[in-house]
Amino acid sequence: MTRAAVIAGVGGHVPPRIVTNDDLARHLDTSDQWIRTRTGIATRHVVDPGTSTGDLAVEAGRRALENAGADGADLVIVATTTPDRPCPATAPAVADRLGLTGVPAFDVAAVCSGFLYALQAGAAAVTAGFAGRVLVIGAESFSTILDPEDRTTSVIFGDGAGAVLLRAGTREEPGAVLDVDLGSDGSLADLITVRGGGAEERSRGGTPRPEDRYFRMDGKSVFFAAVRRMAQSSRTVLERTGWQVEQVDRLVAHQANTRIIHAVAEQLGLPPERAVTNIEHVGNTSAASVPLALADGLADGTLRAGHRVLLTAFGGGATWGSATLTWPDLPAG
Ligand code: COA
Repeated sequence: MTRAAVIAGVGGHVPPRIVTNDDLARHLDTSDQWIRTRTGIATRHVVDPGTSTGDLAVEAGRRALENAGADGADLVIVATTTPDRPCPATAPAVADRLGLTGVPAFDVAAVCSGFLYALQAGAAAVTAGFAGRVLVIGAESFSTILDPEDRTTSVIFGDGAGAVLLRAGTREEPGAVLDVDLGSDGSLADLITVRGGGAEERSRGGTPRPEDRYFRMDGKSVFFAAVRRMAQSSRTVLERTGWQVEQVDRLVAHQANTRIIHAVAEQLGLPPERAVTNIEHVGNTSAASVPLALADGLADGTLRAGHRVLLTAFGGGATWGSATLTWPDLPAG
């Protein structure tokens, strides 16, 4: 028996306010038809004033603990691009609000790959014997960094959070995180960026430009890089695990764009119906995207005990990551 991190519980949460494509088309030069056909998105959830990333993370984390029937965790990791403040990290406050004051807690910043990076950090902490139970959360209030005038980003992103609780177990058990592949290419940093608000801007001096507060993306270049890197990384992790691609029951890819997900499936040679998708209802929720898809897949029965699951994501940095796991037997409610 080999020690491994095992998924003990999963939880997801989206803020109640729904924004439809028609809502966006009222103030942007876009249409329901364009957004649906180019991205696969019909609606997204958006935080109301006063709600932020930490609030969403706490709720998803609470649900994951509840789903696992667990009374706590001894490490909390929050993956986010939209921390509540530049300093300190969001995770300690989330841990405190979950009644876990005192445990180590830190943030991971890898944009849309954030959850895969956090999952690896959590799983490694378990296998190294550093932690027995790790709460890994992906949470975003992405709407807070979008330029409301920019139709190329405003239509894509949404807010939400997803979480998994990892516990110590064995590689042979259902729910085991088997292998993870991670990578980055910093030469692509400008493809996905918020220019302002950091040390670079402050050390330059002068008056910060208001437009630099917003998220910017070169959508077309990101599209191609995302497909290429997710497919490559998926192949790497499948080989490490010793799975043939046809043995994969479910592909949970970062919910960036339905066309991206289908292109990744096609490059891998997987039937598109094996892809778990919730993008139509939640849009791209960045670091929350993969765990939120896991929570929704558990809730609607798309993910079932014993399934061989492949996770993959691509995000700003550029960063990417993939993981193999078997799906645990968890209550769906
Ligand atoms: N509504 C209507 N038209 C729009 C639009 C919108 N919301 N956004 C862009 N367009 C227009 C463009 O201006 C362009 O017009 P032109 O041909 O007159 O120049 C046309 O639609 C096609 O734009 P293009 O950028 O080529 O579209 P695309 O098919 O590449 O789709 C994205 C754009 C952003 C949806 C797509 O590139 C994408 O999903 N990229 C990855 C995004 C992502 O998820 N990133 C997160 C991290 S992985």
